Amino acid sequence: MAGTFDLVIRGGTVATASDEFRADIGIRDGRVVALAADLPRGGEEIDATGKLVLPGGVDAHCHFDQPTSDGSRMADDFATGPLSAAFGGTTTVIPFACQQKGHSLREAVRDYHERARGKSMIDYAFHLIVTDPTEQVLGQELPALIRDGYTSFKIYTTYDDLKLNDRQIIEVLALARREGALTMIHAENSDVIAWLTEALERAGDTAPRFHATARPAIAEREATHRAISLAEVVDVPILVVHVSGGEAMQQIAAARHKGLRVFAETCPQYLFLTADDLDLDGFEGAKHICSPPPRDTASQQSVWRGLQDGTFQVFSSDHAPFRYEDLAGKKVAGDKASFAHVPNGIPGVETRLPLLFSEGVVKGRISLRRFVELTSTNPARLYGLMPRKGTIAIGSDADIAIWDPARQVTITNDLLHHNVDYTPYEGRQVTGWPEIVLSRGEVVIRGGDCLGKAGRGAFLQCATPDTLQ
Ligand code: URP
Ligand code: ZN
Ligand code: ZN
Repeated sequence: MAGTFDLVIRGGTVATASDEFRADIGIRDGRVVALAADLPRGGEEIDATGKLVLPGGVDAHCHFDQPTSDGSRMADDFATGPLSAAFGGTTTVIPFACQQKGHSLREAVRDYHERARGKSMIDYAFHLIVTDPTEQVLGQELPALIRDGYTSFKIYTTYDDLKLNDRQIIEVLALARREGALTMIHAENSDVIAWLTEALERAGDTAPRFHATARPAIAEREATHRAISLAEVVDVPILVVHVSGGEAMQQIAAARHKGLRVFAETCPQYLFLTADDLDLDGFEGAKHICSPPPRDTASQQSVWRGLQDGTFQVFSSDHAPFRYEDLAGKKVAGDKASFAHVPNGIPGVETRLPLLFSEGVVKGRISLRRFVELTSTNPARLYGLMPRKGTIAIGSDADIAIWDPARQVTITNDLLHHNVDYTPYEGRQVTGWPEIVLSRGEVVIRGGDCLGKAGRGAFLQCATPDTLQ
């Protein structure tokens, strides 16, 4: 039997979204080919005794090298973003190819492939961002792109350069229904935000902390309700991204109670930050400006409940990396600029899994299976990457993270591998860390070292997911 396996991971506790069991894993040609006790020796061996062997994370919401319209530049590209993801136990990333208004979507996809070419260490797919749903886009480009493996797209109800009006949202949802694609919705009421922002600026209240005042939970609640209503009219599933707290969650839970297929995502910033983190000395609060903003401790509790009770299906980073000490980053409009001119987004692609593992699994708030489901299996399923990604099963890619569940780590920015000059989680202690990470059977991270080559990651075409039929 020697030589049957290229690699055997031996003696670990394997966890999937449905089971936890002791087994060896036999890997050949980058895929899992055996799961059993006492497998024969492989060409290589990894001793996972005392370790947890989990499917690599699927981060289904992250932004790398995405063009911006305000002169800012994202700090992470397809080299540093996926590298940082891998160090944090993630083996698949899905960033966004963003259409510029007045331009074609095909062009955006072509450009994004150019940006990615030869850089990513782990596998990646693309979501699309639809900002200009013209007849050409809806009639030709989008249906063709969906058939080519771009089966999910994000639309916005806010940001002048991105937002759609209700009629446009309906047209996009109708197209998603026809083609079996999944629409992700950023739900915040644009006019509420504009009106509050103008009032705050007139009063001279422009410090970073007023970003949270300008984007209240009610603006998110209203847009979430509207998005759900429009999807109900069209009769199509949607996924509400980066849900920040109880108000929007209630809309989602009520919709699901009625039998509507509304999926929901939340992110670390809504568990571990509050609006107070925008209220730091000087301009420092800009580090935590993201939308929707982090809210209060009651919202954090609501989000934990939603992770426990099934309100959320997906836990993503929404890694949107802008350096702080950088005139192309958070300070693109200067360090006295109004909150309204600060690039939105915070980094988190590497800390997503350790934070949820430590505060969720180790502290007993969620089970290990639920952790795997939220961070790997569900995103793979919803975005059409199952069964290749998101699980450990015969035939699936050997994308695996071997965790030391007891390792204690203090998160500092020095430890991380993104190209951002801060982490919102500086000084936070976590228990549990992914020590060895495999991508398609190849060890790419081991004991703090990167062993994988840039550019080895493959582009993944996504299927139209069964869950939507
Ligand atoms: O503030 C955020 N979340 N920036 C990233 C873009 C988005 O809307 O997800
Ligand atoms: Zn968004
Ligand atoms: Zn985002």
